[in-house]
Amino acid sequence: MSILCGKDILRTDLISDEELGLILSVAARFERVLDGGGRLNNMEGLVLATLFFEPSTRTRLSFETAMQRLGGSVITVADPKTSSAAKGESLADSMRTVEGYADLIAIRHPRKGAAQEAADAVQVPVINAGDGTGQHPTQALLDVYTIQKERDSLEGLTVTLAGDLKNGRTVHSLVYLLARFGVRLRLISPPSLEMPAEITEELRQGGADVDAGDDLAAAMGESDVVYVTRIQRERFEDPAEYERLKGSYVVDMPMVRQAKPGITIMHPLPRVSEIAPEVDAYEGAAYFRQAANGVPIRMALLALLAGRE
Ligand code: NCD
Repeated sequence: MSILCGKDILRTDLISDEELGLILSVAARFERVLDGGGRLNNMEGLVLATLFFEPSTRTRLSFETAMQRLGGSVITVADPKTSSAAKGESLADSMRTVEGYADLIAIRHPRKGAAQEAADAVQVPVINAGDGTGQHPTQALLDVYTIQKERDSLEGLTVTLAGDLKNGRTVHSLVYLLARFGVRLRLISPPSLEMPAEITEELRQGGADVDAGDDLAAAMGESDVVYVTRIQRERFEDPAEYERLKGSYVVDMPMVRQAKPGITIMHPLPRVSEIAPEVDAYEGAAYFRQAANGVPIRMALLALLAGRE
């Protein structure tokens, strides 16, 4: 049984190097089986509950696809208005109830820290599928898996993270993993949407090469990968502030042509206007391949947490 059996996945900074290597290698093995037309039944007889108290397309559907591709089954709350949370039930009570139905729980919640609170309430493995502006660890895992596939290796790369670095939970998770591979990080955002200082300080203290600024074109000129994010409208208290910042960065073909040749373009999706549709035809536009990589990564996680890899 693996080192991940029975564990929760709440934050990337709590995943060890050994666990990270295991997740990536099991994902690659599962992907090879599926690509070869094979079928897997590792999770037969087990049930995954996906509890989504915030909107989602990719994360919930890829968790559910992953469970089904492993022969397991899924129960879901896709709309909080249809669950007893709408009647005022506490998160802990909802979790204790669902634990009676499911062997693993993936939860998305608007409040930072809610995934930890959910995990504390139950014995079964809990996976954080996004807790407000906190973290989104499974996205970061599939992002690293994608960079590995697109670039062969992460060693020696320069990666630019651009957009809403203050509120974006995907980047809050991804930086910790990239720093471990010695990646040079370029953090590009409007001044009011910078990466939280406690995160950059922690990275620098750990020896990471981190540089922050607001010039995306210059950063793309020296980057192997650019990871573009959406300005997180739902986190703004002032709608006028969102309107002011929403068009801060738009990656279009003229920008791609001026970037480092062969640059890989990523985005956790959904995009609003940060990447022009014309970029989709560029061969380094990896965002839909990235979304597809969510399936093998989540298959690996589910199987490892259940001791069924
Ligand atoms: C992200 C999220 O929910 O944090 N979406 C996703 O899971 N791929 C990114 C976003 O909403 O901007």
